[in-house]
Amino acid sequence: LDTVMGWHGEHGRAPLLHERFKAAPVVAGEGGRVHFSRTGGQAEAAAGVSLLEAAEQAGLKPKHGCRMGICHTCKCRVSKGRVRDLQSGESRELNGQEVRICVHAAEGDVELDL
Ligand code: FES
Repeated sequence: LDTVMGWHGEHGRAPLLHERFKAAPVVAGEGGRVHFSRTGGQAEAAAGVSLLEAAEQAGLKPKHGCRMGICHTCKCRVSKGRVRDLQSGESRELNGQEVRICVHAAEGDVELDL
């Protein structure tokens, strides 16, 4: 995109209409142990590792799509535990609510309905 815009400027062309997108900043958090209530497995998730990545590291294959918090395909119930939103940095205690596991990480022990 920079090359094309540079060429336009060098050749006196009209301004090029464009948009740029980038991933939201990631807030690392603390990490923790994720327990998978349906399969009985668990995984140790380092700071900044999403619940989706933790599940995949444990050999699970949760449904997902975009992996960036847009499609909501990965929503999963957190039975209990504290999670951090990796995009906003918000940390909250959950007890049966669903989260997008691709953009949330464990903060201590978390039990996930997988
Ligand atoms: S995979 Fe799309 S929101 Fe999580």
